[in-house]
Amino acid sequence: MSPDPNKDKGLSYITSALTAPVTPAEAALRPLSFADFTGQLKTVERLQVMVGAAKRRGDPLNHILLSGPPGLGKTTLAFILGHELGKNVRVTSGPVVEKAGDLAGLLTNLEEGDILFIDEIHRIPKTVEEYLYSAMEDFRLDIMIDQGPNARSVRLSIPRFTLIGATTRSGLLSAPLRSRFTLQTRLDYYDHPTLEGIVRRSCGLLKVEIDDGGAKEIATRARGTPRIVNNLINFVRDYAQERAQGKITRPVAAAALELLEIDAAGLDEMDKRMLRVMAENYRGGPVGMSTIAVAVGEEAETLEEVHEPFLIQEGYLQRTPQGRTLTAKGYTAIGLKPLGGEQGALL
Ligand SMILES: Nc1ncnc2c1ncn2[C@@H]1O[C@H](COP(=O)(O)OP(=O)(O)OP(=O)(O)O)[C@@H](O)[C@H]1O
Ligand SMILES: [Mg+2]
Repeated sequence: MSPDPNKDKGLSYITSALTAPVTPAEAALRPLSFADFTGQLKTVERLQVMVGAAKRRGDPLNHILLSGPPGLGKTTLAFILGHELGKNVRVTSGPVVEKAGDLAGLLTNLEEGDILFIDEIHRIPKTVEEYLYSAMEDFRLDIMIDQGPNARSVRLSIPRFTLIGATTRSGLLSAPLRSRFTLQTRLDYYDHPTLEGIVRRSCGLLKVEIDDGGAKEIATRARGTPRIVNNLINFVRDYAQERAQGKITRPVAAAALELLEIDAAGLDEMDKRMLRVMAENYRGGPVGMSTIAVAVGEEAETLEEVHEPFLIQEGYLQRTPQGRTLTAKGYTAIGLKPLGGEQGALL
């Protein structure tokens, strides 16, 4: 079962695109307004309605929770909201806000109508979360200062602000926190035509020549994810420059992505390792995620957050009350024949 180390190289390129910090190149391709942001039509329409209404009334925007797998545009949308409202966006992340004092520092520095963006909000410590409730609801914080007999509570008023929370695991958010967001909206993987549009937009900004075939080829191998689109373009652009006079056509894109060992469907090494473990060790399942996680050597949480949603959406595996089962498409993706039965289930 140990994977060929060379095989990992290209595929880890995709996985690292999902976990790497935002680079200046990525920031340069980030859409700045709704007009630039394609796809996620329902979410965008909901946000536009809220922005329009808030602006007309002169109120701050209501609190919003954005959820969905990595690289689909949560951070991008938070910045777009700031831009559309003409307000500042302060960025922090759940695990960084360790104490109530940290939260107080962030909130008291905001101006009326500003956005506080908390990434990975499901990882905010419980003790801090409780302070967030009154901040979100009543725009005040009751902070305890001193200890023992001198302990006293101080009430701080904070400017009316908007909290935008982002999470890859909305299921891990507590019910009281979740219920304080007026809008909870989930981003889905992008379909191929939308990704093709994103390929063309990014190539335009990078001044890279690409034809329809080239755009299609990159879009189908990008795992439904704009961040991966942009990462693949970077490599394909280098390849085109070195091997094909700079123009990205279908054969050029295909050859470049073959060189990275990126699957025609965009599956990465971990996706395939999961499918292989299920087929080879568990005869297609049903098998629990924690068992799969041990077998592939990855945290169950990462598999559930990054890998499983795409595999389910694309029909490679299914979730049943007994565990995960591999579908016929899942078997085919790793070059195996289904073990009988449409789902590849053991007969
Ligand atoms: N709809 C879109 N149109 C064009 N580009 C997009 C779109 N959505 C995302 N992108 C691009 O993908 C990149 C990644 O998006 P973003 O950082 O917003 O993802 P995220 O959901 O916040 O991911 P994470 O969960 O890892 O923080 C952005 O830099 C942006 O260039
Ligand atoms: Mg983000």
